[in-house]
Amino acid sequence: MTHLRLGLNIDHVATVRNARGSAYPDPVRAAMLAEAAGADGITAHLREDRRHITDRDIERLMEALALPLNFEMAATGEMQKIALRHRPHAVCIVPEKREERTTEGGLEVAREENRLAHFIAPLAEAGCRVSIFIAADAAQIEAAARIGAAVVELHTGAYCDLHAEGKLAERDAELARLREMSAFAHSLGLEVHAGHGLTYDTVGPVAAFPEVRELNIGHFLIGEAIFTGLGPAIAEMRRLMDAARA
Ligand code: PXP
Repeated sequence: MTHLRLGLNIDHVATVRNARGSAYPDPVRAAMLAEAAGADGITAHLREDRRHITDRDIERLMEALALPLNFEMAATGEMQKIALRHRPHAVCIVPEKREERTTEGGLEVAREENRLAHFIAPLAEAGCRVSIFIAADAAQIEAAARIGAAVVELHTGAYCDLHAEGKLAERDAELARLREMSAFAHSLGLEVHAGHGLTYDTVGPVAAFPEVRELNIGHFLIGEAIFTGLGPAIAEMRRLMDAARA
């Protein structure tokens, strides 16, 4: 099977830094360490309210990072301008609500098809791979293909929540849906990524989907790094992904 890439989301290194308004822990340092530990990419979400990653973090990542940067952003004019200035390897368009704790649902592509098609066109022209973060839903996947996205990232949050709540029959149904929709997206020519809420316990079944090319994982790994260090946490996730893929 093809290599499954691991993108480390470093947002929550910045969350800890910002809790005290200090210069540390530095998300750019985490990104450099992730590179040495075997991650294939770095993901950072510049939120409208700048609650974790800042504009300066993005600038420093673009200067310092050898790994591809996946720049997560809402579909706003401000974010489009920033992305066009930096031209990161990839941009992942996510829905954003100020009051949410994290990205709770996928983007409603089908409802906003026209606007999103116009929104992503200059990003693609600038050389960014455009990824759309959506629920595992056929209508959203079809809409993502129609607007010209290169990639869809399927939201694994519901699957992970059901696992954590011990609702195993519902978890397995959600997993089956993710599997089916990965194959469907791939059949439309979209590259398939997945992420949100993945842990050592939940990563295996998703990593085993042959169509999935990249997983983006953050919160769990940054938390685990408190106990084991970031390098070993990434290495363990890598090992579990490779074992599931074998
Ligand atoms: N993928 C996307 C599109 C996300 O918005 C996030 C969270 O910022 C992740 C992956 C990573 O999720 P988590 O931090 O729960 O691993």
